[in-house]
Amino acid sequence: MPCTLRPAHESDASGLAALAAATFPDACPSFMPRSAIDAFIDENLSVDAFRIYLTGPTWQVRVAERHDDHAIVAYTLVDLSPTASDTVLAATSGQGAAYLSKMYASREVRGTGVAKALCRDTLTALADQGQRFVWLGTHKDNARANAFYARMGFEVIGERRFVVSGVEAEDWVRLARLHTPR
Ligand SMILES: CC(C)(COP(=O)(O)OP(=O)(O)OC[C@H]1O[C@@H](n2cnc3c(N)ncnc32)[C@H](O)[C@@H]1OP(=O)(O)O)[C@@H](O)C(=O)NCCC(=O)NCCS
Repeated sequence: MPCTLRPAHESDASGLAALAAATFPDACPSFMPRSAIDAFIDENLSVDAFRIYLTGPTWQVRVAERHDDHAIVAYTLVDLSPTASDTVLAATSGQGAAYLSKMYASREVRGTGVAKALCRDTLTALADQGQRFVWLGTHKDNARANAFYARMGFEVIGERRFVVSGVEAEDWVRLARLHTPR
């Protein structure tokens, strides 16, 4: 599917919020109550939240924009704040890692290679900025995302509890080593 991969702009906030609200439930385990999912979306994936991600110094957002209708069909959200995870610090000898907080594709483009291209594009951008490692957390039952991340070079280094509006879920913590830019 022809898409442009690019950094997101402030004008993308509403398109990003719509895609994020539509896709976040797909990453949640089946026991997660819809009320907790909706509260998480309101708090973390609203238009206002994306305005903060798009303008804040520690966040980076990249998108896949479909050529024919300019819709945003996939996005990544990276947090470059200092790493707080002991698991990640231990696995990187204290260096820390960029945090791939969100990697979401719309249902219609899953399995088409768009997510793979955007993930590669995001990892390349981070490597070009001098990042050595990227980490993420994925629910243990999210078989599709776990298979995807394994293929993208993310290895399991531990686990964590991820809290969605007061409801705990068990994630695998994964880490990828980035290639040094040429
Ligand atoms: C995770 C995501 C970005 C991956 O993009 P994608 O286009 O679906 O990825 P692909 O189809 O290229 O690859 C997924 C892998 O899972 C496999 N897979 C597909 N459906 C599956 C299923 N129901 N169960 C298990 N594995 C599955 C695919 O075969 C592929 O593995 P392979 O390359 O070894 O064959 C996308 O599925 C998505 O947005 N999911 C919903 C949100 C989400 O879970 N995001 C991650 C949050 S941490």
